[in-house]
Amino acid sequence: MDNITQNKKRVLSAIQPSGMLTLGNYLGALKNWVNMQDEFDCLYAVADLHAITVRQEPSKLRQQIYSTCALLLALGINPENSVMFVQSHVAAHSQLSWLLSCYTQFGELSRMTQFKDKSAKHADNVNVGLFSYPVLMAADILLYQPDLVPVGADQKQHLEIARDIAGRFNSIYGDVFKIPDPYIAKTGAKIMSLQDPTKKMSKSDENLNSWVAILDTPDDIMRKFKRAVTDSEAKVCIGEEKLGINNLIGIYSCITGKTAEEIENEFYGKGYGDFKTAVGESVVEALRPVRENYQTFIADKKQLEDIYKAGAEKAEYYARRTLSKAMKKIGFVL
Ligand code: TRP
Repeated sequence: MDNITQNKKRVLSAIQPSGMLTLGNYLGALKNWVNMQDEFDCLYAVADLHAITVRQEPSKLRQQIYSTCALLLALGINPENSVMFVQSHVAAHSQLSWLLSCYTQFGELSRMTQFKDKSAKHADNVNVGLFSYPVLMAADILLYQPDLVPVGADQKQHLEIARDIAGRFNSIYGDVFKIPDPYIAKTGAKIMSLQDPTKKMSKSDENLNSWVAILDTPDDIMRKFKRAVTDSEAKVCIGEEKLGINNLIGIYSCITGKTAEEIENEFYGKGYGDFKTAVGESVVEALRPVRENYQTFIADKKQLEDIYKAGAEKAEYYARRTLSKAMKKIGFVL
């Protein structure tokens, strides 16, 4: 397979299809996905199977799978160098997931914080998929024998369980799965809500001014930054009681590469109005090409399909190899 060489470390990650990825997703994760392509062999999946643990409207789900693929390309995932694919197109994910579920304990899945949170939130639909979600995620990862898995803080426990499952399987059958390490990027930040900086920026927040979508218009972005919650000190600097300003400094730093100290100097003696405008403009400029590229990719369904189909074919090659190996070890007749 031409994309994957032997000498670089391999990276796998995945993101659920959502038409509304946020600035938080971008600065916290996706920007790193793009940068990692220089140094690593990368596989990136659109985790559509994971999306149906909560009820989805069919036409919307379909649209979101397309738009997530288009957005990844628009951000700079390069299908010449990386393998970009849709999870459900590679059947081995579901297959390995079943096998691994027989090496996973009910008790350990019951302790997953995300399961506890989500089952409380969707109390009317606590389905088995929601419960076994981490097993499918373990399959996503282990199929590709990656060295590194970039994950946010909220997914660390899931990566941990994937490592446990792999270790348990290996201790019975020998070295079948590589045990991957989490990858915590040097840059990249946890972006907080613009309206309540004690909370993470989230697209499910009802207050629409609290989050910025990657595809928001420049006007919307500027409006949201101008309304961002700050404090009454009127001094642009990091401070324990200045969560709103800390967050804005974090965003500006991520985008411009400037340190907090440089930013404090730049805005010394200036008011919050100037600072918010500068942060908003930096975000607008960073996202402008993404938005434009997105329009091009989403308008050409045929090209989009060609790209994700080619990606699935490459992914399939790796996935099959690992799946066959695991099946043989267990004792299946192939
Ligand atoms: N569960 C992850 C999330 O919601 C997405 C995901 C699915 C994933 N499979 C993965 C992330 C494998 C990393 C590796 O963010």
